[in-house]
Amino acid sequence: MSWLYRHTIRPCLFLQDSERIHNRTLGALGRISRNRLLNGMVRVLFEAPPLPIEAMGLRFPNPVGLAAGMDKLGEAVPVWESLGFGFSELGGITRHAQPGNDAPRMFRIIPDEALINRMGFNNPGAEAFAKALHQWRNSGHWPGHPVGVNLGKSKITPLGEAAADYAHSFRILRSLADFFVVNVSSPNTPNLRQLQDRAALDEILVALQEVQNETGDRTPIRPILVKVAPDLPFEALDEIVELAFSRKVAGIVATNTTLARPVNSRPASRKLYAETGGMSGRPLAQRSTEIIRHLYRQTQGRIPIIGVGGIFTAEDAWEKITAGASLVQVYTGMVYRGPGIARAIVAGLRRLLVAEGHASLAAAVGIAHRSP
Ligand SMILES: Cc1cc2nc3c(=O)[nH]c(=O)nc-3n(C[C@H](O)[C@H](O)[C@H](O)COP(=O)(O)O)c2cc1C
Repeated sequence: MSWLYRHTIRPCLFLQDSERIHNRTLGALGRISRNRLLNGMVRVLFEAPPLPIEAMGLRFPNPVGLAAGMDKLGEAVPVWESLGFGFSELGGITRHAQPGNDAPRMFRIIPDEALINRMGFNNPGAEAFAKALHQWRNSGHWPGHPVGVNLGKSKITPLGEAAADYAHSFRILRSLADFFVVNVSSPNTPNLRQLQDRAALDEILVALQEVQNETGDRTPIRPILVKVAPDLPFEALDEIVELAFSRKVAGIVATNTTLARPVNSRPASRKLYAETGGMSGRPLAQRSTEIIRHLYRQTQGRIPIIGVGGIFTAEDAWEKITAGASLVQVYTGMVYRGPGIARAIVAGLRRLLVAEGHASLAAAVGIAHRSP
């Protein structure tokens, strides 16, 4: 399937503007999601074999998830499970609806299997997004795997009022998803990454905890995770780890896109790399793994890590898992490798587990730290 996609379907898709083809694909997946027969056919073609793992009090049928930003509007919530993903993270969603940055705002660097985006949290706002999730739940098509929501800060909200902005979205959406990711690491909202500073992040986490404790709300406590940037120095990561322990953060998502660019790029790619925005895909893989390795060491494996950044194959996912990730996510890999990517990675991970002699996936998490 991957070969077929890469050599026949992808060249046709890549003739079109990246955002336009993204929107068309999501529209088509949305239609499939609403049709039981079509969704069933997708499932037959792409369903992943089981590779269960438990993390954050949730049970995942396999560790390969859909990364934030792919289904920003919750357009195709049921189909991700049919495409073999063990969980999905929807959004990013902000309190206020916003159009995002001006187009063009998504660029492909094909020879390097990379993307640069400066979308800027284009989304319908928490209220409208909640309606979309309600509709999926009421339609009977809600997926069986854990569904998370990625929360961002509205552009119009001043940094000093960020905590209330996140808390507002969380209050509206809390009952509708299984886990929530505090995104303070997107490079495309001015100054957002300053919210990774200890005091600012602490304020956000306290505000979200207060929402969880509000009386009259019978929704169970939801795991709250923090998503970090790959551009943070290790000292800043260590502060986040301390906070994660003291505020009982359920997990860390590592990483978002990077502001860095490859040192030696082809002359033809240089113009694209000069575009403003966050880079994802192959050239992000190594830095993302370094961050995971550091986080695992600092947390001694006591806080689950979701590894994301440049995962295209089972070997890429294995590197993240053995560095310390309990779960992984994919975005750019799906653009370049096609809809069979989750199934291929899960099948490959199962083979690697057997080859390396591990009884379960959980046993392989962080194993690189214990090897001689
Ligand atoms: C077009 C695009 C939009 C994204 N939007 C979000 C977002 O809204 N929230 C977020 O936390 N990450 C967002 N991301 C980052 C991805 O979730 C992921 O962390 C990053 O792309 C690295 O993974 P990858 O190399 O598999 O793409 C976006 C990425 C892309 C390419």
